[in-house]
Amino acid sequence: MDKDSTTLFINTLLFFLCFSFSHSSTSFPKQALPTKSGYLPVTSTSNSSIFYTFYEAQNSSLSLSQTPLLIWLQGGPGCSSMIANFYELGPYRVTKSLTLQPNPGSWNRIFGLLFLDNPIGTGFSVASTPQEIPTDQNGVAKHLFAAITRFIQLDPVFKHRPIYITGESYAGKYVPAIGYYILQKNAELKELKESQRVNLAGLAIGDGLTDPVTQVVTHAANAYYTGLINEKQKNEMEKAQLEAVRLVERGNWSEATDARNNVLSLLRNMTGLATLYDYSRNVPYDDDLVEKLLNIAEVKKALGVKVDESFVYEICSDLVGDVLHDDVMKSVKFMVEKLLKESSTRLLLYQGQRDLRDGVVQVEAWVKTMKWEGIVEFLNGEREIWKVNGDVAGYVQKWKTLTNVVVLGVCLMLVCLELSVLMMFFCCRNCNKCGNACFA
Ligand SMILES: *[C@@H]1O[C@H](CO)[C@@H](O)[C@H](O)[C@H]1NC(C)=O
Ligand SMILES: *[C@@H]1O[C@H](CO)[C@@H](O)[C@H](O)[C@H]1NC(C)=O
Ligand SMILES: *[C@@H]1O[C@H](CO)[C@@H](O)[C@H](O)[C@H]1NC(C)=O
Ligand SMILES: *[C@@H]1O[C@H](CO)[C@@H](O)[C@H](O)[C@H]1NC(C)=O
Repeated sequence: MDKDSTTLFINTLLFFLCFSFSHSSTSFPKQALPTKSGYLPVTSTSNSSIFYTFYEAQNSSLSLSQTPLLIWLQGGPGCSSMIANFYELGPYRVTKSLTLQPNPGSWNRIFGLLFLDNPIGTGFSVASTPQEIPTDQNGVAKHLFAAITRFIQLDPVFKHRPIYITGESYAGKYVPAIGYYILQKNAELKELKESQRVNLAGLAIGDGLTDPVTQVVTHAANAYYTGLINEKQKNEMEKAQLEAVRLVERGNWSEATDARNNVLSLLRNMTGLATLYDYSRNVPYDDDLVEKLLNIAEVKKALGVKVDESFVYEICSDLVGDVLHDDVMKSVKFMVEKLLKESSTRLLLYQGQRDLRDGVVQVEAWVKTMKWEGIVEFLNGEREIWKVNGDVAGYVQKWKTLTNVVVLGVCLMLVCLELSVLMMFFCCRNCNKCGNACFA
């Protein structure tokens, strides 16, 4: 056999081995099935729809009709919320052998938890045509609003429940965008259709990209003072950062996005780190396990996915990434300002201390530039030490409706936190231990 056919033979063999292996060893435990899953149409003129999985609260002290609904949006742009579902904060996580294991830190212990593959074209969500994929945050919010209102109508038990919209990374733009959109829609619907208003109670952003031009200039100094680069490298990174700013100022959005990617690429190359999400990790995250899991026919079936056999699920869609490429460097800070100013919506920002992409320094940089009447009090407020079982778990700063939490020893991908409804304040199920428990 020549080289190519040997390779082909081995690949075919591997394919069959993997196929039969995954087929025989993966069972989707009944307890791991979503309470509901399926598709939420986003327009009346096409089949475009958002795929969702919903897990009802397991152990709420409130009646279900009062238990908050928490909506999760993954970042990207174009990454599937099934990453959070099966790798971060859902009730079951994927293991290396592609089985599912209960997650003791799941967010659906005290919340109804809804994962949306957003925007259309992402994960299992359907974009009838590529042209229907939103190109900006207003377009994203419009589709999300359609999907959320449709979801609430699925069951009377959802109708009056407080809604919290959460997400991480690039969802630092989606979360304010849908919050802002709901604010506008609720004002329009005030007299007309009380029943269609969305009962928005709060927003939470983990390690978010929200005001990119302010955030992109912080990487060099952050890495330098963390001891990860030297002064010469810092200077080189600063030059690259200023290039991104210059392009934003010119409105050259596509090149500005490339320039930001270049900054992060430099940082990765200079530091040699396995991942910028957590500078202490020696190996990258295994999130492609989610991709492997969700390409098993039995798993697709269990989740109510309706695609033909040839459909290949990807954790992140390059197409959606391309469509939103021009949007990446555009700020949604004004939406956050409006939400804080004109609504009682609470906003929680939280970052893992070891995240180098959209971490503590990046978030503080934009927060302090916000035009909001409470900003001075917020910035001058006491930064409380937050302990869990006697150990320092992080720091909390709070003023009125804005809370910022720094979580020690936990990074973007490893959210083992629990939102307490009443205070919109985090308590942690021993986060330091969680790292080993989840990823050993
Ligand atoms: C929606 O999908 C159905 C079934 O695949 C198809 O028959 C129908 O034409 C589609 N409608 C639109 C508007 O694309
Ligand atoms: C359920 O809630 C009760 C009371 O709040 C608590 O004691 C118990 O540990 C919880 N169980 C789980 C599995 O979270
Ligand atoms: C944007 O960048 C491209 C390529 O560098 C350049 O050709 C174009 O003139 C720029 N546009 C603006 C408005 O700066
Ligand atoms: C980082 O390294 C990769 C691989 O060597 C290279 O392709 C890329 O251009 C580098 N990035 C920068 C910004 O120099």
